[in-house]
Amino acid sequence: MSAYDFINLPDRRDTGSIKWDRYEGRDVLPMWVADMDFRSPPEVESALQKRVAHGVYGYTDPTAEATRAVCQYMQNVHGCDIDEAWLLWTPGLVPALNTAARAFCDKGQEVITTVPIYPPFLTAPRYQDRELVSVELSNENGFYTFDWDALEKSATSNTKVFFLCNPHNPVGRVWAMDELQRVADFCKRHQLVLVSDEIHCDLILNPDQQHHTALQIDPWVKDHGVTLMAPSKTYNLCGLACSFVVIPDDSLRRKFRRSMRGLFNELNCLGYAACAAAYRYGGPWRLELLDVLRENFAEILRFTDESMPLIKVSPLQATYLAWLDIRALKLHHPRTHFERRGVGLNDGTEFGVPGFVRLNFGCPRARLQEALQRIKIAYDDALEDFS
Ligand SMILES: Cc1ncc(COP(=O)(O)O)c(C=O)c1O
Repeated sequence: MSAYDFINLPDRRDTGSIKWDRYEGRDVLPMWVADMDFRSPPEVESALQKRVAHGVYGYTDPTAEATRAVCQYMQNVHGCDIDEAWLLWTPGLVPALNTAARAFCDKGQEVITTVPIYPPFLTAPRYQDRELVSVELSNENGFYTFDWDALEKSATSNTKVFFLCNPHNPVGRVWAMDELQRVADFCKRHQLVLVSDEIHCDLILNPDQQHHTALQIDPWVKDHGVTLMAPSKTYNLCGLACSFVVIPDDSLRRKFRRSMRGLFNELNCLGYAACAAAYRYGGPWRLELLDVLRENFAEILRFTDESMPLIKVSPLQATYLAWLDIRALKLHHPRTHFERRGVGLNDGTEFGVPGFVRLNFGCPRARLQEALQRIKIAYDDALEDFS
């Protein structure tokens, strides 16, 4: 028996939802940007109601409650000791990526990353007048890992920062310790600051796997690494703009803080309340969520296997974002092709590789099934077009 309702959900139209407003007035199911359609844990709703009932919403420093909740969560769930002094709070991880590019790299110097990748990894260096070096991951039948030779060939004496996504959006990998150790060795060899975005670390679907934070790889990384985290993806709090950066090394932390100056205000006071409640009380809800997501992903695999065999779905270890190889459909404009058949997906070109789409399945099963039916129509139409 489920303790939480992942089926009957409020209508998100007319709430300013980016995900839903893109298709306002059109019969297109929004299966794109990474927020889920589920309500947050009831304990988060109660904490927000309590904070709202207070009635005064002045400038707010990180609350002791939120700071303690983060440290305890990191200890209890990830076995990682964090000193409160290492934490810096930001209104999102996209601003944190941009800040990291400015803080650890001078103009004209390079940030290296791997593609496909969550688009702000590609835009942050450019927005900050830094250079971007992107290296393709190796893709063996949908299973991705690092292309170590290509990485080695791409790093130069001008490369200063490595942007890592762990678990990885969009390919869904939870990097294993031996892969992370090789990333750390690569960073050591080239003296790079490792910026590790771990926003999806509490969404591991494969029960045999475990998240390793960059803080745990080895002592060198701890002194040369920056870990980005947030409760926003797991507990569906994206609109509350509350995330944090863990920087154990004093000098790196000073540089990061200096680059934030004048750009970020204090965070939203509601964000801290929600963050504390999610980390302290959201555990049982999260476990049920993972069951729902596992079943949704199994549905995607079943459906594509039976009805759309030319689409290859990457084996997913984490996140609620499925990565679909649709190169066999030979579509020139995949996003438009699917939208015209009533389903809104992200196009692989946004992530640096054409020929793929990303499907957000953080929604009730029935909506996912309807989306799959529409994808099937798009699939049949594509095959008809080139047959
Ligand atoms: C890897 C990764 N980092 C960061 C974000 C979003 O960051 P924020 O909303 O905190 O700016 C996302 C959202 O999808 C993501 O997938």
